[in-house]
Amino acid sequence: MGKIIHDPTVIWFPSPVILVSCSDNNIDNIITIAWTGVICSRPPQISISLRPATFSYGLILKSQEFVINIPQESLLNSVKKCGSISGKNFDKWKECHFTKEKAQKVKVPLIKECHINFECKVVKTLELGTHTMFIGEVINIHISSEIVENSCIKIPTLIYSPKGAQYGRVIKFNEK
Ligand SMILES: Cc1cc2nc3c(=O)[nH]c(=O)nc-3n(C[C@H](O)[C@H](O)[C@H](O)COP(=O)(O)O)c2cc1C
Repeated sequence: MGKIIHDPTVIWFPSPVILVSCSDNNIDNIITIAWTGVICSRPPQISISLRPATFSYGLILKSQEFVINIPQESLLNSVKKCGSISGKNFDKWKECHFTKEKAQKVKVPLIKECHINFECKVVKTLELGTHTMFIGEVINIHISSEIVENSCIKIPTLIYSPKGAQYGRVIKFNEK
């Protein structure tokens, strides 16, 4: 098997793709994020990395809070929209027909149309280069009862591969 040598980059692997809601308690916004991952189990922590030029960056920096909303396949167009227009110019809630749902422990609204939401408090901010990483401690989780079956999530979640901007979905290997 021949292998091609490639310059160092991070574009090859599929990653989760999520919708992060954020707010400065005045303007509420949503950003699509692929540079995200679980980084600690206890306390539960998830990182998200944002370019400082995004509108969302300033909101999260100010409020020190964000909500991770897990989009299902049917929300793919909204995922693309929230990742291509800016809250500087658009109300993405209106553009995507999303409903704001009150969170319990943060002031940032949840996206009602997403079945899974993690309320997060920023515990660390790391300026890495092109992106700044916000480490969020998960302080509350909402999961629609309708998507849970035998302790498993029964809807396919989205993944994203930056190489060619391809979207996919997670399936169980034993599924037909
Ligand atoms: C699939 C996908 C993944 C993205 N992942 C990130 C990311 O991890 N970090 C980031 O800063 N921008 C990411 N973006 C780009 C932002 O979502 C985009 O710049 C957005 O318009 C910024 O919105 P805002 O200005 O309202 O914050 C992604 C876009 C798409 C479509």
